[in-house]
Amino acid sequence: MSREVRDEIRKTGYIFLKSHRPDESVVELAKSWGKPMVLWEDGLVQALVPRTEAAPNSYSGIYGLGHFPFHSDLAHWLTPPRYLLLRCVTGYADIPTLLVDGRDLIDAITLDILARAIFKPRRPRDGSVSLLRLCESIEDSVRIRWDPVFLKPASRIGAVADLHIREWLSTCKPTSLSLTQPHDTLLIDNWRMLHARSPILPGRENRKIQRIYLENLH
Ligand SMILES: [Fe+2]
Repeated sequence: MSREVRDEIRKTGYIFLKSHRPDESVVELAKSWGKPMVLWEDGLVQALVPRTEAAPNSYSGIYGLGHFPFHSDLAHWLTPPRYLLLRCVTGYADIPTLLVDGRDLIDAITLDILARAIFKPRRPRDGSVSLLRLCESIEDSVRIRWDPVFLKPASRIGAVADLHIREWLSTCKPTSLSLTQPHDTLLIDNWRMLHARSPILPGRENRKIQRIYLENLH
């Protein structure tokens, strides 16, 4: 990974590269940038396609082709994946991915409240419920997590934070980026940024995005 890419993601929390390295597969690209994570048995790469019918405990099952709310990925896991790489196979300019900077959220709600806000997964994982803070100090940085569906407040301050975050997200001004051309690539710091998907418009049901999670960057 080039120094420019690394500096940019440290500075802004994401990097967007148009038609990036078209001769390389998404796996080659991910491996050249960092350490990919195999989280499920279906392997390294997940193909994201709009679905009207899906498991009821998934965003597609709940929202279908509609707007996916702001969240960080796998926020209900003890350690959510650090980076999220999205690469366009079939994309559309009018289905942008929306990003907000968790640091702006921290400024608005305060680190004090977010660090004391205890949440729990909506459903127990492996039979046990872990309590999770929305903000934690990790190394020399702060990790933020948020998911309006898979996390729910488990303390009074959690409930206060929940209300404030939902209100702030409903009025914030997100960055809008469209994975449009094949190989358009978006790398997101999943410990810092929240992302959302716009609604899938009629005729755009063949949108296809590849996703790989990365544990770190080289
Ligand atoms: Fe996501």
